[in-house]
Amino acid sequence: MSTIIEDVKARKILNSRGEATIEVEITTTDGFGVASAPSGASKGKAEAVAFPPGGVDEAVKKVEELIAPELIGLNADEQEEIDNLLRELDGTENFANIGGNTAYAVSLAVADAAANSYNMPLFQYLGGYLACNLPYPLGNVLGGGKHALGKVPDIQEFLILPVGAPSFIAAAEANVKIHRRLRDLLIKVDPYFTGGKGDEGAWAPNISNEKALEVVSKACEEVSNEVGFECRVGLDVASSSLWDPDKQCYVYESEGVKRDAGEQLEYILDLIERYRLIYVEDPFHEEDFESFSELTSKVDGCLICGDDLFVTNVKRLSIGIERKAGNAIIIKMNQVGTLTDTWNTTKLAKESGYVPIVSHRSGETPAFHIAHLAVGFSCPIIKTGVVGGERIAKINELIYIEEILGGKAKMAKLKI
Ligand code: PGA
Ligand code: ZN
Repeated sequence: MSTIIEDVKARKILNSRGEATIEVEITTTDGFGVASAPSGASKGKAEAVAFPPGGVDEAVKKVEELIAPELIGLNADEQEEIDNLLRELDGTENFANIGGNTAYAVSLAVADAAANSYNMPLFQYLGGYLACNLPYPLGNVLGGGKHALGKVPDIQEFLILPVGAPSFIAAAEANVKIHRRLRDLLIKVDPYFTGGKGDEGAWAPNISNEKALEVVSKACEEVSNEVGFECRVGLDVASSSLWDPDKQCYVYESEGVKRDAGEQLEYILDLIERYRLIYVEDPFHEEDFESFSELTSKVDGCLICGDDLFVTNVKRLSIGIERKAGNAIIIKMNQVGTLTDTWNTTKLAKESGYVPIVSHRSGETPAFHIAHLAVGFSCPIIKTGVVGGERIAKINELIYIEEILGGKAKMAKLKI
């Protein structure tokens, strides 16, 4: 079982939005690995730069001319060494030269190839025999913000979390039921609703944030009663997209309302209480650690999650830990670049009592690796949408992982 890298290939492919991205293949003596990078629409300012200045074409060239000659001959199971090499070849903090998406595709294809060389599923290669916890799927069912066009809710994502599900398949099916039930409810509240969806497959109706919360809560409650376990509601406010730094306030354009930091805090607290929210992501913009701390200290039984705030970055998470800002973190590997960096952030989160949530991006490829990351890194939640081929690819992979694990499979422990 040799993991020696013999060949490295890169190519330009398209993501779910039809944008160009990169796919990398690694061939070892005894195996093969492939990975492709997703792309964000509401990106954090402190994220790794996605591609070099010349875009995907330059990224492909960099893999072939700069990275491949260095990788060939190395062992694919020396992940940390290879990830350090990618950092060295790039020479910047934020992968400005080779691109964070280039680092992502190479780093993950290396792990995929190593697992394949050992004839192991990726999650087992990453997490060993203890990796048998399935994550709860956090699903985007209704939304707007930067993920949809026209007059849609200002809040980017209205999410559901089937916290009482006894198995992954039951959880995934409950999410689909809620998504479907919502369609029936939306036809009644938005007379012009044509079934339009945003980038992640969530319905994009012309209704207010408040109405959206009402219908999502209703769908959740009805389906919870039907399936016999609890499903709860959450939000990704994606507040950096609403924040106007000149006016120092959050601009809710569809609603025609502006809120300063204090009003935003009151607004979010009120929503958490009235809708029993279990999850709120990015309730404040990406530099406002202080408001995150204040909100976290005031709520109980609700995950306050940082996405743009932390950008999967150890340094930014460390600031959050010190200031007690939030209690959960979105893990998006291409925000930081390599698998090693992603694991270091996930590990720190766990050690510090933050719930790590492996997440898709709004522009995805049909690749399913994040399903393996969630199980391999033992993350209790995966955020990966409810419908749409590129989202279902991850869900179906988790259904498959649950099947491979058989009697050993159990739902993750989720303390909220
Ligand atoms: P993205 O963001 O569009 O950058 O992927 C999705 C999110 O905010 O969670
Ligand atoms: Zn987010």
